[in-house]
Amino acid sequence: MKKDFLTLLDLTPEELQALLKRADEFKSGKDSSACPLIGKSIGLLFNKTSTRTRISFQTGIYQLGAQAIYINTNDLQLGRGESIEDTARVLSRYLHCIVIRTYEHDIINTLAQNSTIPIVNGLTDLHHPCQALADILTIQEKKGRLKGVRMAYIGDGNNVVNSLIEAASLTGIDLTIACPRGYEPDRTIYDNARSKGSKVKILTSPDEAAKDADVLYTDVWISMGQEKEIERKKKKFEGYQINSRLVSLAKPDAIVMHCLPAHRGEEITDEVIDSAQSVVLDQAENRLHTQKALLEMLVR
Ligand code: CP
Ligand code: NVA
Repeated sequence: MKKDFLTLLDLTPEELQALLKRADEFKSGKDSSACPLIGKSIGLLFNKTSTRTRISFQTGIYQLGAQAIYINTNDLQLGRGESIEDTARVLSRYLHCIVIRTYEHDIINTLAQNSTIPIVNGLTDLHHPCQALADILTIQEKKGRLKGVRMAYIGDGNNVVNSLIEAASLTGIDLTIACPRGYEPDRTIYDNARSKGSKVKILTSPDEAAKDADVLYTDVWISMGQEKEIERKKKKFEGYQINSRLVSLAKPDAIVMHCLPAHRGEEITDEVIDSAQSVVLDQAENRLHTQKALLEMLVR
């Protein structure tokens, strides 16, 4: 049976632990000669721009011995009206896995339901699970543990934080989210986490969330596809910035995280993102290692 990775909860806590261990092996150079996916072809179907996701997958796929086929979805017949269902059935005859970045999450559900190969979510409007994998590895590396780590997410209740809520459920991270009213994370994802006893809460005060945090995390106020909302959202998010004052409320050894790309001067200042407490480049690097471990787990 094929296994998809559409949201972080497609992994069990045990599978996540195994994946982190394998990512660490890849990172440390163990097994550097192993090419477990030799002869395989993996499609990268992107309908939004990308720097990290695209290049880390493409490089990682090469390192695993497989080939990556990158295509903007507008260049497929999909862009001229061929159905997702037919696209899924046809590509299943050529490829061994598809990584897709798109808008509505339902598109990847439909793709997965009609494919016989694993589908990996490279970001939708609702989830960014590959980012969360790298974030979890980064926190484990920097803090030496996951359970009980106090993480404060300051900003928009978007795809990144939706996946971080699921990360909290899987790992026991204690997540406090501060966002303006009306910009909360997805209600179903939040309620599901709470019903499982996960330590996740939503506040409006960034100061309250940041107090004594081990990890401060933020993301852009305007996600891809929301460009029309720029002026309205910028006003709403004044005060939801990770700056030196906010960092001073967290623990002295707190780390600062951002999935990137950053809008410097909006959700985070230059001073903070370039500081010694910032781990944003480690996060970006860990995309490569965790995604290699993920593909090795999914692709047969
Ligand atoms: N963090 C992340 O997914 O970056 P890209 O949009 O550059 O892929
Ligand atoms: N929330 C951002 C994440 C980019 C990696 C977006 O969807 O644009």
